Amino acid sequence: MKHLLSIDDVSADQVQEIFATAADMHDVQRREVKKLPALRGRTVINMFFEDSTRTRSSFEIAGKWLSADVINISAKGSSASKGESLRDTVLTVCAMGVDGLVIRHPASGAAQQVSEWVDAVVINAGDGMHEHPTQALLDAYTLQRRMGSLDGKHVAIIGDLTHSRVFRSNVLCLTKLGARVTVVAPPTLMPSGIGPWSKEAGFATSYDLDDVLPDADAVMMLRVQKERMSGGYFPSAREYTVGYGLTRDRLRLLRPDAPICHPGPMNRGLEIAADAADAAQSVVLEQVSSGLAVRMAVLYHLLAGEES
Ligand code: NCD
Repeated sequence: MKHLLSIDDVSADQVQEIFATAADMHDVQRREVKKLPALRGRTVINMFFEDSTRTRSSFEIAGKWLSADVINISAKGSSASKGESLRDTVLTVCAMGVDGLVIRHPASGAAQQVSEWVDAVVINAGDGMHEHPTQALLDAYTLQRRMGSLDGKHVAIIGDLTHSRVFRSNVLCLTKLGARVTVVAPPTLMPSGIGPWSKEAGFATSYDLDDVLPDADAVMMLRVQKERMSGGYFPSAREYTVGYGLTRDRLRLLRPDAPICHPGPMNRGLEIAADAADAAQSVVLEQVSSGLAVRMAVLYHLLAGEES
């Protein structure tokens, strides 16, 4: 594995190797001095052409705790805002001798494209509506820590599937680890072409959240991505919540020990009620701390062995 562009780049065994390293990295998080020398002398650039809070800061902290030099570039404040092409921006930073590029971009396929232009290791931190592999790894890591092996476990993924790269990466990752996955969305937010894909990949689809929840071992709520919507996908926020929100009433349908995940940022009151987001069974903040450990593990696996 040279790059991490898609969950398809990693085998189930490699996922478990990453998780084992992440468990060690978790211990570093608890230390007073949070520094390992593993990436000393390596330079990692975070190129974020879309907004981000947790993904960008956790990649930055992860690189720093591994002693890499980490530089952040965003669309605003870089020459991309002056009209420079992605290729020119990427080639420019790579001409400085960069070892790793962490890239988030609104275009699906951008990370793959960048990996064809440069020698540096490329990590996809979210490309349009395509994939977000480190999010799926951190979600599965969080669930595995809570529930043990995911083999045979039933995970329900609920929300704006059409616009979600988190859903696409999670379906690939969870099924790779043997989980049974059901995805739930209103018909307007169910991606077109999901029928053949679900048959091939072996996951189920449903429009009925109340039917799915009682049988779920874990649920993953996804954000309604208004910034990617050009038309009306549902009549009103209220109707979305009534049909597909994890409301206080629906919480009662869920097993009390079933973890509730959300990749963040959450629209409280829309796809997830405060009662669910703050419930004892919510693992939202655990996902964030696990995310740091998993990103340290990914950087370590991709960059520590590389010749500088
Ligand atoms: C997700 C993303 O950006 O794809 N968030 C994240 O990385 N934590 C999901 C989202 O924006 O809803």
